[in-house]
Amino acid sequence: MGTPDEAAPDSGLPDSGLMEKVVNLAKRRGFVFQSAEIYGGFRSTYDYGPLGVLLLRNVKNAWWRSMVQYRDDVVGLDAAILSPPAIWAASGHLSTFSDPMVDCRKCNERHRSDLIGDTCPNCGSKDLTEARDFQLMFKTHAGPVEDEGSVAYLRPETAQGMFTNFMNILTTTRKKPPFGIAQVGKSFRNEITPQNFVFRTREFEQMEMEFFVPPAEATTWFDYWVEERYNWYLDLGIPKEMLKLRPHDKEELSHYSAGTTDIEFLFPWGWGELEGVANRTDFDLKAHSAASGTPLEYFDQAANERYTPYVIEPAAGATRAMMAFLLAAYDEDEVGGETRTILRLDWRLAPTQVAVLPLSKKAELEPLAREILGMLQPHFQCDYDVTQSIGRRYRRQDEVGTPWCVTVDFDSLEDKAVTVRDRDTTEQVRIPITELVANLISRTTPTN
Ligand code: GAP
Repeated sequence: MGTPDEAAPDSGLPDSGLMEKVVNLAKRRGFVFQSAEIYGGFRSTYDYGPLGVLLLRNVKNAWWRSMVQYRDDVVGLDAAILSPPAIWAASGHLSTFSDPMVDCRKCNERHRSDLIGDTCPNCGSKDLTEARDFQLMFKTHAGPVEDEGSVAYLRPETAQGMFTNFMNILTTTRKKPPFGIAQVGKSFRNEITPQNFVFRTREFEQMEMEFFVPPAEATTWFDYWVEERYNWYLDLGIPKEMLKLRPHDKEELSHYSAGTTDIEFLFPWGWGELEGVANRTDFDLKAHSAASGTPLEYFDQAANERYTPYVIEPAAGATRAMMAFLLAAYDEDEVGGETRTILRLDWRLAPTQVAVLPLSKKAELEPLAREILGMLQPHFQCDYDVTQSIGRRYRRQDEVGTPWCVTVDFDSLEDKAVTVRDRDTTEQVRIPITELVANLISRTTPTN
């Protein structure tokens, strides 16, 4: 059984150079660094720098707002990453969570056979070994003794924590189906071929929600969540042409799924999965009930009926979504006869929303500029930049997606007003300082 991960990586689309530009920008401006770079780098692991950590957090916050904060039928959870083998035996991951792996006999490179066909993408040789299953879970030992009794796994999905805590949540929240449990956190997979920057890595972040429903309502809720999740990406600025829904063929379905639809994004190398919405049926709750001896059921008092709910699961990658938002936002246009690089990120995702820029380094401007910074910080993530010319500072903010710059100049000391510049239009307007917070808030769309 293959992982329910992504479509074939190469659809024959030409890479217009966008990928390279975005990866360079990410490095140059402190979004994403190669992990352990000073030691030559650790393959497929990345560190999120000062701007990346803000962007990634904003992606996760936007997801949490729409999945938890704005709903009364979903609650949150933060479950452990280290987990005992019993969970993964019951979930089916120990027996089926593997990818088919082949070795090239000529260059010794290792590949996922389902992604490459019969030719080594490294050297072109057709002399490949037979495919064999490669277990994707990271295995470790908990405690001082490294024997079979101390084996633990790093979770390969956040989902299982939601199933194993089903009864805890049912009894402590008095929720009843239909209701969901949402979780954001790290997952780990020993991917054979991690690739394409943070698209497929061995350590990544997921945003998953398990929605427990009466079995008869599963199809309706499945359709509902596919639409909700598709609209979430649209609402946050991914153009329609870069998104599509792809229902899985029967042979492609994961071991637990009765139906899955992927939300795909048009990456520079072709369509790739951003998120999968699956009907997991009662597979997981029943499997954990049987293995643990703890019934994971719901008793419907009104109907005097006990049943195992079905589960609809929208499962997204936070780090992968961050990359898609970066790719979709990257743009170049011309301002004042010069090419400028701009990230047209939605204000909710932009690492910093407002940059406060005193026109000159001269000391007279500093107190007022800092006072304005202090006024804005409770409402927005702000940057404060005094170095270089104002034109250069605008470009620097455009390049990292800051929607608004507030310039404090010498007139500000007299007229108690500042200039607000819009990233996308470059339009500048003079605003009284007393109205600044309200003015900037009026430029934001509702936070959903
Ligand atoms: N609980 C179901 C599940 O984990 P999945 O399709 O394997 O389903 C969900 O993973 C999402 O997690 C994917 O759509 C993708 O965005 C993200 N993801 C999976 N493997 C990843 C990897 N190796 N690197 C980055 N993101 C990954």
